[in-house]
Amino acid sequence: MEHDISKLDAILSAYQGKKGALIPLLQEAQALEGYLSRPVLKYISEKMNVSAAEIYGVVTFYSMFRLEPQGKHIIRVCKGTACHVSDADGIKDALIETLKLAPGAVTTSDMKFTLMEVACLGCCSLAPVIMVDDQTFGKLTPEAIPGILDKFRF
Ligand code: FES
Repeated sequence: MEHDISKLDAILSAYQGKKGALIPLLQEAQALEGYLSRPVLKYISEKMNVSAAEIYGVVTFYSMFRLEPQGKHIIRVCKGTACHVSDADGIKDALIETLKLAPGAVTTSDMKFTLMEVACLGCCSLAPVIMVDDQTFGKLTPEAIPGILDKFRF
């Protein structure tokens, strides 16, 4: 956080004393590093005189906030009904295997990819579906996964 402290201070002073500032303030703070680290949240709590409990309540309630760093590419694997019955689990297993994700991890150790599950990507007729960043890939088989990820490796 060290090199962003002056930027963070600028954000904090812009919102100082304003009502309803916490959410937009946290959004701007998140944009600095792509996520909200514990030291950043502690700093905001102290400087804005808002309890840590209140801040954690907000960042854990709204899905737009991230408490962990994310990979360069976000992979969304659909676990909605249509995808589920079309082997979404097999697709997810192929993603985990290809990405070599450790048990419980969602981001690769080189920070290139983060894997997340979503409820429905809105293109059920293409089930099973994944999105990598803003690109959609449908009618997938587990065998197709390595080739798709290769497009995003560099
Ligand atoms: S259930 Fe997967 S896109 Fe709708």
